[in-house]
Amino acid sequence: MKEVVTPSQATPALTSQVLAVTAFLQDLGGTATVKGTDVEPVERFGCVSAGGGDPAEAAAPEAVGPPEEVFATFGCVGCHQIAVPVRTLGPPLHDVGARLSTSELYESILEPDATMAEGDPPYPPGLMGATLEGNGFYERMTAADYRALVEWLAGHGGLE
Ligand code: HEC
Repeated sequence: MKEVVTPSQATPALTSQVLAVTAFLQDLGGTATVKGTDVEPVERFGCVSAGGGDPAEAAAPEAVGPPEEVFATFGCVGCHQIAVPVRTLGPPLHDVGARLSTSELYESILEPDATMAEGDPPYPPGLMGATLEGNGFYERMTAADYRALVEWLAGHGGLE
């Protein structure tokens, strides 16, 4: 017998990455190409279900909240300084908007090890991705959350 994998069986992490990529592509295009709410296209394809049930109830995941909240909720704050040029476990992000483009910011969050920040001594690989996978970041972030987070980071261009 052949197993048919429907979109609703897609893993939450995958769904979240689709949302992030959607947000990213919309950013690149300047104007949004997907109308309606951010989650509408995903709902339409039935990807958002948290496990069957009434499709009306399997509503879109709720946005985590403003970037400051995301930064605290998922422990970014434990590894990154956002206001001062101080290295902790990860690089300081007070000037990250001046160092990374929007697409690099998306990549640094979605694929932390794809391009490693340079540090002396070098930053440890794997740490950020494993932590964010472990604490549900990739499952809970909506497209709107990703976009707001990246915009917020891009706005950090150095010390005032
Ligand atoms: C467990 C520690 C840890 C956590 C939690 C963590 N990071 Fe990181 N992060 C790192 C390390 C280490 C690096 C450097 C290695 C690399 O480039 O992947 C990094 C790199 C980055 C970079 C690229 C910085 C540069 O200068 O190129 C960004 C942006 C970033 N993190 C954002 C975040 C955000 C946003 C969160 C929370 C959603 C987060 N990080 C959570 C450790 C962490």
